[in-house]
Amino acid sequence: MKVAVVGTGYVGLVVGACLAETGNDVICADQDAAKIDGLRQNRIPIYEPGLEPLVVRNQRDGRLQFVTDVGAAVEQSDVVFIAVGTPPNEDGSADLQHVLDVARIVGRHMNRSKVVITKSTVPVGTAERVRAEIAKHTKTPFHVCSNPEFLKEGAAVEDFMKPDRVIVGVDGAAASEVLGELYAPFVRTGNPIIFMDLASAEMTKYAANAMLATRISFMNQIARLCDAVGADVTLVRKGIGTDRRIGPAFLFPGPGYGGSCFPKDVKALVRSGQEQGVPLDILEAVEAANERQKRVLFEKLERRLGSALRGATVAVWGLAFKAETDDVRDSPALALVEQLLGAGAAARVHDPAALATARRHLGERVTYATTAYDALQGAAALVVVTEWLEYRTPDFERIKRMLSRPLIVDGRNLYDPQRMARLGFTYESIGRPAACASS
Ligand SMILES: NC(=O)c1ccc[n+]([C@@H]2O[C@H](COP(=O)([O-])OP(=O)(O)OC[C@H]3O[C@@H](n4cnc5c(N)ncnc54)[C@H](O)[C@@H]3O)[C@@H](O)[C@H]2O)c1
Repeated sequence: MKVAVVGTGYVGLVVGACLAETGNDVICADQDAAKIDGLRQNRIPIYEPGLEPLVVRNQRDGRLQFVTDVGAAVEQSDVVFIAVGTPPNEDGSADLQHVLDVARIVGRHMNRSKVVITKSTVPVGTAERVRAEIAKHTKTPFHVCSNPEFLKEGAAVEDFMKPDRVIVGVDGAAASEVLGELYAPFVRTGNPIIFMDLASAEMTKYAANAMLATRISFMNQIARLCDAVGADVTLVRKGIGTDRRIGPAFLFPGPGYGGSCFPKDVKALVRSGQEQGVPLDILEAVEAANERQKRVLFEKLERRLGSALRGATVAVWGLAFKAETDDVRDSPALALVEQLLGAGAAARVHDPAALATARRHLGERVTYATTAYDALQGAAALVVVTEWLEYRTPDFERIKRMLSRPLIVDGRNLYDPQRMARLGFTYESIGRPAACASS
């Protein structure tokens, strides 16, 4: 099939590369000329495991092209994915400007009938707005579909290649057939393509992210209560996760959810509810709980260091909002750094992949360490924010020698509290009894 993917961000680039991998002729179009220029030279603008070989191979074999001319890409294609960003407006609603800009271009370049698919996360009714925008510029018949994306950054290629399910909202049988054919290679093991109407598909994406965000905020609050009453959230998590009605996934407490999706999608759904006169007060509470949670590491540190925090240097391990990505959008680590700087502390930060993206937010206000241990130079304490593999079994003796106080605040519960006490650390984690040096 001849496919255009407009927007080559985390989603568009993965979609384009994976569809090329299964034999389609894919043109990825983006208005960012520098990004396109880099991609043509196989420079991947994001850190995403497994993506580079797909881009290199399919570009070499001529199935994957990168262009800045969106109109030309549309003209050469039968299927057009819209995968541009939908950032939040001031009031929390999704900004559809980029999606509708692309729809306009699609309308102007509708040289033959096409299937136009919204891949971006968009509120209910957007596919119909896309249809209306296209129809202003063409008399050629076309189809509109909603095909929300569920990939996880850090495992995006794997998720796209082996999806739990594919959600497709369609406006008729012809569109179902095209999408069914396009996705057939990815659902060979029986994972379903679930066809539905456009509005339900759009709602499914928000409902999924809102449910996941709710689980995280729920567990974060249970962890806070565990802290207060002396229970261990790890045991509580196992205890409830083995209940089949609950299940084990997404029950890990942490420093608050971040990234480019949960924060903005929860906000957008709350806003949709307000517009419809349907209060989503559960989600308002989820969001408020998450904002509070983003202070939890700072508060633990402040309690331990007291007035010594002002003027102290704090080492921060992990800036990405989660492991295996360089995405720092709404990352709790950036919130922590701002809190530290606001309290008069200095930060030495490390991340295996996200130093460059973090620098765009933090500028020269912090010191960037090239290794995890370099971040510890002159630091009073270490805060672990992201669960990168390389932080899981570090050299604790070395850490202890380097920190002026043996204090670790662990936002991901990576280490065993008893062991940390034996090693001589004061150790705080999330929802587990704190450990103090046993000697
Ligand atoms: N990142 C994720 O994990 C993820 C997962 C599922 C869904 N989504 C959704 O997918 C959408 C895209 O997310 P992303 O993280 O890939 O965004 P992104 O910001 O990484 O990329 C968006 C790209 O679109 C390009 N663009 C914007 N306007 C354009 C236009 N008019 N013409 C051509 N290109 C244009 C930008 O230059 C950018 O390269 C969002 O709606 C997001 O909510 C994201």
